[in-house]
Amino acid sequence: MARRVTKAIFPVAGLGTRFLPATKAMPKEMMTLVDRPLIQYAIDEARAAGITDFIFVTAKGKSALEDYFDTSAELERTLTEAGKTDLLETLKSTYMPSGAIAYIRQHRAMGLGHAVWCARRLIGDEPFAVILPDDVIDGPKPCLQQMVEAHAETGGNMVAAMEVPRDKVSAYGILDLGSANGSLLRVRGMVEKPATEEAPSNLAVIGRYILSPQVLTNLSRAEAGAGGEIQLTDAIAEEISNSGNVYGFRFEGHRFDCGSKAGFLQATIAFGLSRPDLREELAEYITDIATPRIAAQ
Ligand code: UTP
Repeated sequence: MARRVTKAIFPVAGLGTRFLPATKAMPKEMMTLVDRPLIQYAIDEARAAGITDFIFVTAKGKSALEDYFDTSAELERTLTEAGKTDLLETLKSTYMPSGAIAYIRQHRAMGLGHAVWCARRLIGDEPFAVILPDDVIDGPKPCLQQMVEAHAETGGNMVAAMEVPRDKVSAYGILDLGSANGSLLRVRGMVEKPATEEAPSNLAVIGRYILSPQVLTNLSRAEAGAGGEIQLTDAIAEEISNSGNVYGFRFEGHRFDCGSKAGFLQATIAFGLSRPDLREELAEYITDIATPRIAAQ
């Protein structure tokens, strides 16, 4: 059995340029799907997977993220006095135990690999998870929990993998696959943002990882890769030749790319429709506005 994963890194220091001007003064991770910010979905998924130490890699302009997890005496008092127990429970579900969250600063957005490396002193010599909050995954079981369970058997390094259309491979890290055992795939190679004709498959890495501390050592030596950024993919790929212990994990669930406008809007609709208090009204509205357009096409 591999060592249990209890620490997770949340790299949230990116500039979020695809959501400008909104992200000029607000972290992308605070954008809400229905009524919960993206970061709350990520934290809930990590908690379900048994994570107890939450490490945020933040940057200038992200202080709303830090405030979000504080307790709020005034809100608590107001809701208690008004007898709004449901809302009080909702509020308390955002509270985190003292000391459970650490914030590390990335001084310049030098890429995902660099952001993860910034957290190295808090990881030490144990496996750790990385969660990108803008990948929101809706599934029968939280994605990271599926991966932690699989990792308990395999150890090593594991990346969440999903098929993407061939013409989209150049937006992702793409896997070169060896043997498969159910949802577990042995990885022979990884390439960041390949040209369509050079991609070894259409199986893409998305924002959930379980990594060995060796990846942090690889990152210490890393030089800028695709797009001039320090790439996490390159540091994981090094482990294929070092230890041969890199797996792709085909998770069960639907992934929404909430870092893109289209993905974020799709997630908003899907999560809205999954809420019993909103479903009917929203479905009716969508049918209403979609019908004349479909008929007109
Ligand atoms: P993205 O590629 O989505 O970049 O980063 P971004 O800056 O957030 O958004 P756009 O592309 O400008 O719209 C993927 C993840 O890696 C983090 C981001 O915060 C996001 O969670 N990241 C990226 C960092 O923490 N630091 C970096 O230097 C780059």
